[in-house]
Formats: sequence, structure tokens, C-alpha cells
Amino acid sequence: MKYLIANWKMNSVDLDSWENNFINYVNSSKSFPKPHELKIVLCSNLYDFYVLSEKIKNSKNDIFKNITLYAQDVSQHEEGAFTGQVSSKFLKSVGLKGSIIGHSELRENGDDDEIVFEKGAKLKEEGISNIFCIGESLKILESNKKKSFLLNQLTAFCKKNVFPDLLAYEPIWAIGTGKEADPENIASAVSMIIEFLEKKKINCPVLYGGSVSSRNILEIMSVSGIDGCLVGNSSLDGEQFANIASKIKS
Ligand code: PGA
Repeated sequence: MKYLIANWKMNSVDLDSWENNFINYVNSSKSFPKPHELKIVLCSNLYDFYVLSEKIKNSKNDIFKNITLYAQDVSQHEEGAFTGQVSSKFLKSVGLKGSIIGHSELRENGDDDEIVFEKGAKLKEEGISNIFCIGESLKILESNKKKSFLLNQLTAFCKKNVFPDLLAYEPIWAIGTGKEADPENIASAVSMIIEFLEKKKINCPVLYGGSVSSRNILEIMSVSGIDGCLVGNSSLDGEQFANIASKIKS
């Protein structure tokens, strides 16, 4: 099984056109991967969630109908006076199947390793999944500290009974910049991550994120150990996103 995650972030997406463009591409594609070959997850903002979930439920297109909806973030708190935050209990009650946690854009805004761990623990309590993101900055890459930095992020998260359900390696310098990480760079991080997971006996797909597009998806998916991708900008258009999905073979 391979995985493709769309992270729409705080962008406005016209849901009708996204759906139409996605389905038109799927219908015109000769060998679009089947739902048992490729799991597609869509992380929209919560305001679009209800409309999207109705569209998915009522769709006659088998691929669109199998899209799973996740949130982009979750609170580390149970409930109470936390203005603007959304609890894992709420995510579950409205039918979301999981959430991204530890995205670099949130880490930059104050989510340290401990908060990311607590968010993972809250999702786990509700029995819904996490997409756990890690990745180094350009400064860390250039000072040759990538390996120890990633290991620290992994160690800080994988403790007690918390572990990643899906793990996305996203070098910060490649996110939203159009700067693509080269395959050797991705491969060295991924083999280190897999070694860590194996030692801990954690069975979890490893994804790559950072300026993924229909142009570079084949090269990225050819890196040994990569089970899928997390896509930001190129997921905002249904046709482009379906084009990326069509190139992923299980
Ligand atoms: P990008 O975003 O594809 O626009 O680089 C990826 C991400 O933030 O997860």
C-alpha cells in the first residue's frame, strides 16, 4: 500500500472545482491506482470538512469516495479555555480519522517536541491516527547535524505507548520553496528513520514532503524505503493532485 496526503493548509480551495478536476483526471487516466493500492488522505481546514465529507459520502466515483479526511492539527489539551484550539475528541466526533502533528509550520510557532508528543498522545487516546512530521532546517543540514537532529525528534516522540502511524520526513528548507531535496539527501534521512523504527519495532510507512509535484514524484517514489508523499502547493488543484496520484504505483 502507498500513501498520498494533501495538506491544503490555510488556502482557499473551490471544493466543487477541486472535485470535478480530480474526478475528470481519474476518469481519463488508464491505470489510476485502486483504493487498496493507494490511500489518499486530505487535510483540509475544518470549515471545509463538513462539505467535503458530504461530497465524499455521496460521490459515485470510487476513488473520490475512498478519500480519507484528516485535520491539520489538534490540541494537546483535553478541553477548556483554549481559544481557537480543537480537541482530538472533537475531531473524532465529527468523523475525522486523524491529524497531522509536528508540521514545521507549527513547530516554528511554538510546538516543541513535548507538545508534539502530547498531541500524539491525545490522538491515541481517541483511537485516531497521526501523521507525524519531522525535518531539519537548512542551518542544521549545513552544519552536518541532520542525523542527530532527526534522531532527537524521533526519540522525543516515540515513548510510552505513542508512535507514528504515518511518518513524514519534510526538510524545512524544501517546504513551499520549490527547492527540491535531492534523492541522496532523502535516501540518507529515510534509511536512518527506518533503522530507528526497526530498532523500536515500530511498523510505520515513511513519506516524503517538500515541493512534491507531478514533475518530481516518480524520482521521489523511486527512493528506497519511501511509501508515499505529503503534498502542499501541488494538492490545491484537483487535476494536479490526481496527476501526482496516478504516477504512484504500489
Ligand atoms: P509543499 O508543502 O508541497 O508546498 O512544499 C508540503 C508540506 O508543507 O507538507
